Amino acid sequence: MERDSSFSADRADALSGHDDDLAGVTVIVCSYCRDETGSDAHPRAGALLAEDTRRAAADENIRIRTIECLGNCKRRLSAAILRDGCWSYVFGDLTASSGADLVAGAKLFATSTDGLIPWRGRPDSLKRGLVARIPPLDLLKD
Ligand code: FES
Repeated sequence: MERDSSFSADRADALSGHDDDLAGVTVIVCSYCRDETGSDAHPRAGALLAEDTRRAAADENIRIRTIECLGNCKRRLSAAILRDGCWSYVFGDLTASSGADLVAGAKLFATSTDGLIPWRGRPDSLKRGLVARIPPLDLLKD
């Protein structure tokens, strides 16, 4: 599942999988998402998730950013994980307390040598909640 063999050896060499690679990982949390009640009350559940993610990442060198809408509203609380030169991931069906999972996914991504977030060890919420993955542009051959 979720495998891709077109990742070049050069790119694999460039991704060393060291902790320093955490600096190249960004988590983007939609701070505008509503919870299952659909309430417009503030703070929105998405803002609580962003706060939870920042708390979970407090001791890590991971960028946490927020955005108002990732276009994934039907899947409730949403976030994306990006790494320079790698695939980009969008997740949904998260909860206001999924911050630790997002940080665990980001840390796992930093260990990747093939540009993908490893499936093994990925938190369940980032398996079940996967919406899409988008390749880096320079991976496209046509
Ligand atoms: S409001 Fe969060 S994805 Fe649209």
